Amino acid sequence: MSKILTTESGAPVADNQNSAQAGIGGPLLIQDQQLIEKLARFNRERIPERIVHARGSGAHGYFEVTDDVTPFTRAAFLNTVGKRTDVFLRFSTVAGNLGAADAVRDPRGFALKFYTEDGNYDLVGNNTPVFFIKDPIKFPDFIHSQKRDPFTGMGEADNVWDYWSYSPESLHQITWLFGDRGIPASYRHMNGYGSHTYQWVAEDGSAYWVKYHFKTNQGIRSLDAQQAAELAGQDPDSHQRDLHQAIERGIFPSWTVYVQLMPVNEAADYRFNPFDLTKVWPHADYPLQRVGRLVLNRNPENVFAEVEQAAFSPNNFVPGIGPSPDKMLQGRLFAYADAHRYRLGVNHTQLAINAPKATEANNYGRDGYSAVNAGGRAKNYEPNSYDGPRQTDAALAAPTAVAGWTGTHSAAQHAKDDDFFQAGELFRLMSDAEQERLIANLAGSIGSVTRDDVVERVLPFFHAADADYGKRLEAAVKAIRNNDES
Ligand code: HEM
Repeated sequence: MSKILTTESGAPVADNQNSAQAGIGGPLLIQDQQLIEKLARFNRERIPERIVHARGSGAHGYFEVTDDVTPFTRAAFLNTVGKRTDVFLRFSTVAGNLGAADAVRDPRGFALKFYTEDGNYDLVGNNTPVFFIKDPIKFPDFIHSQKRDPFTGMGEADNVWDYWSYSPESLHQITWLFGDRGIPASYRHMNGYGSHTYQWVAEDGSAYWVKYHFKTNQGIRSLDAQQAAELAGQDPDSHQRDLHQAIERGIFPSWTVYVQLMPVNEAADYRFNPFDLTKVWPHADYPLQRVGRLVLNRNPENVFAEVEQAAFSPNNFVPGIGPSPDKMLQGRLFAYADAHRYRLGVNHTQLAINAPKATEANNYGRDGYSAVNAGGRAKNYEPNSYDGPRQTDAALAAPTAVAGWTGTHSAAQHAKDDDFFQAGELFRLMSDAEQERLIANLAGSIGSVTRDDVVERVLPFFHAADADYGKRLEAAVKAIRNNDES
């Protein structure tokens, strides 16, 4: 038998189809609690969308350790082969607003929350191992250039390439984005990366710089520009549909998880700055070591509660894992929880999707809007004489040596650091056909830029990466632009 319909305070509702009126055909009555509450509630259904990565899909699952990594980290959830930890993963596109089409050329977010016994560990990565910029102070400008123009209200190729023409360090990620992997066929058919360098610390105190790789067991599948344009028009929710339906049918997507590990004392002399987010560590230098398996096996019951309200913060670490001095990461350590306090409120950590599951949160943070776990009668200060929660005195990660003067420094240059070498390496790795598609995609986008100075500023970057890359792209861009002029 169905339940009785009630108001929010639990009183029975007599009529959910006809508002109360002062006589047939008369005005409505303010005493109609169901009408007033229903309309007012409806007006408040939307919360601010994420400033980036607004459009996304999520699923629950688990992470299982398959290989012993205890020599490298003392993270409890990684300490035993066969151990499983519950996870929630949210995939996303970056630039589109809530409701934007999924099948677009854009990086994909790969945000993972491990509900560990030492608290939640959030690894907030992308499907790309690198990023466009390497200093967080540039992030708002970069994102503005990619989103809608304040005057035209549209995304503008002029803005996109104008910004990039002043940002040569973006070329590696641009080459990645306009290549085949720039439009994944679905969230199941792409890899995930932690992207940044993080720190692992073992029980004996030995420390490593670490990069995470999640390799899809479904195989990489991508869409070309034409296929994506058609799909985005026919089914804007294509990624959401694919993920949701696969899991409903019991086809559980999985990823094999690897790390690259660099002993901390090798960082200073490595040929690339290991904390530069626009660079990878070639596998020949630091090979992939398998750690475990990630499986998604349960759809959210309620998309708003679990996906829209999910809050991932790169600053949610657990003992044995810590940050690196990567400037971008350092900026992100601030930005996310700040965004959550704005978007979801100060008590967002008490929402079921964000609260720890395998342990409980015990601290002296109190009150604020919508406090659910108000701390009961326990004392709200520390230290106290009432057996309240105490600090452990055990360092979470290893200390990092620093030296020098405060100042607005650019990233430290290592022997092989330039903005173009790794972009050229990526280009040279591609098959002829892939290079053709990359150049056609880039030319299509750069070819639609209206300002000559922007085009002239950006083309030399491609020449600097690889002579063939530059020559072919320049010819393709000129052909489009000359055609447009004639
Ligand atoms: C300094 C650079 C960056 C800043 C300031 C920044 C800031 C933000 C902010 C404010 C959000 C919205 C958070 C929310 O409302 O819940 C967000 C979302 C996200 N960012 Fe970043 N971001 C940066 C770089 C990156 C990088 C390098 C990556 C990947 C390697 C990344 C991956 C993500 C993902 C996956 C999400 C969506 C998380 C979710 O699914 O809820 N971001 N970012």
